[in-house]
Amino acid sequence: MNLYAFELGRKKELCLAELLAVLGEENLVEKNMDTAIFKSEEKNFQDLQNSLGGTIKIIEIFKIAQATQIKDSVKEYLEENFRDKTGKINFSLTVLNQKFPDKILIKNLLISSKKILKELGLNSRFVNQNFGNTKPSTIYKARVIEKGVDINIIYGNKNIYIGNTVAIQDIDNYSLRDFNRPKRDALVGMLPPKLAQVMINLALLKGKTKGIIYDPFCGTGVIPMEGLLMGHDVIGSDIDQRMVEYTQENCNWLIKTFKPENNPSFRTFKNDARHLTKTELPEKITAIVTEGYLGPALTKYPTEGEQEKTFRELSNLHLNWLKQIHALTSKDLRVVMCLTGFKKNASITHFPRFKELATLAGYKIENTYSYDREDQIVIRDIVILTKI
Ligand SMILES: C[S@@+](CC[C@H](N)C(=O)[O-])C[C@H]1O[C@@H](n2cnc3c(N)ncnc32)[C@H](O)[C@@H]1O
Repeated sequence: MNLYAFELGRKKELCLAELLAVLGEENLVEKNMDTAIFKSEEKNFQDLQNSLGGTIKIIEIFKIAQATQIKDSVKEYLEENFRDKTGKINFSLTVLNQKFPDKILIKNLLISSKKILKELGLNSRFVNQNFGNTKPSTIYKARVIEKGVDINIIYGNKNIYIGNTVAIQDIDNYSLRDFNRPKRDALVGMLPPKLAQVMINLALLKGKTKGIIYDPFCGTGVIPMEGLLMGHDVIGSDIDQRMVEYTQENCNWLIKTFKPENNPSFRTFKNDARHLTKTELPEKITAIVTEGYLGPALTKYPTEGEQEKTFRELSNLHLNWLKQIHALTSKDLRVVMCLTGFKKNASITHFPRFKELATLAGYKIENTYSYDREDQIVIRDIVILTKI
């Protein structure tokens, strides 16, 4: 079984949780600052990468080494893998798990690698600038994986892992789904497709088999769309008929544009999640994945009184819809949802007393992960619930 390093996205704990859910805790070898190393027998890494919202790139480890062996290990790899190549090689080098990546190491390795490639009769272009690490988006845009190699020096807990990138986040595809879907609504929600994928993976655990995902607050349909793309059947409902139509149109567009595997189906209906009945939801749902309602859109930080009012209204809403859905679903149901928080500078006010609310509705909290961005006032905490 081979070793692979997964470079974690911005919210490291959340990204690791996604990997543990998809690849299995038993396969984790070690977790570092930027990466998690797993054993894996996966065959198609770009497919795996495309289904992981929280992984930036996947690196196949070809050598476990000590510091003194790095240069020779890279040399050996290049000689072995580039001997029969022709044309111009795009080459990049990334050092991971160092707070301040070692520029001297990067410089020496770039220079020696260029020399080795030249000795093999190959012209090469370095993507790194100023002997620093290269951004994944630059590696993607320069098509380094297809036209050459991205070598990674990964500082592990005891060893140094050296590997080549085998898959990278397809940023064009994400932005197509995010910005080119037919219906968007800045006021209703801008759930990033990557976060929707992470939430679906957290709900499904090793989510390869086809499930039925239900989003009772579907809005413009980002979660149903991502569910379809991952090959699951999806159901979306919303209190607002316009949103039901938006989800319908976006899902139709997604199926037409991406032709997802497994031939997944979707349906939508108008509904107040607090009053859902078996007639409206007769299916055996595998998981509920929803952003939920986050409260009114804000342009400035709310006063304490405004925060309390929003939390009070949302508590009522969450208690009622969670209770209602509890009665209609099976014992092993998982719910992955977002809770509203408010952020000012570095301080976050989280949703108060949610544990008591969840217990009252018949659930226990398995885990919570914060998902905030620098410029946000309203932030989301991702919560995983199971039935008591
Ligand atoms: C934050 S938005 C969801 C955005 C969505 N994730 C998307 O991809 O566009 C919340 C949605 O919840 C809906 N909503 C609010 N209260 C509801 C309720 N009681 N039952 C069902 N839907 C509700 C709103 O109409 C809105 O579309």
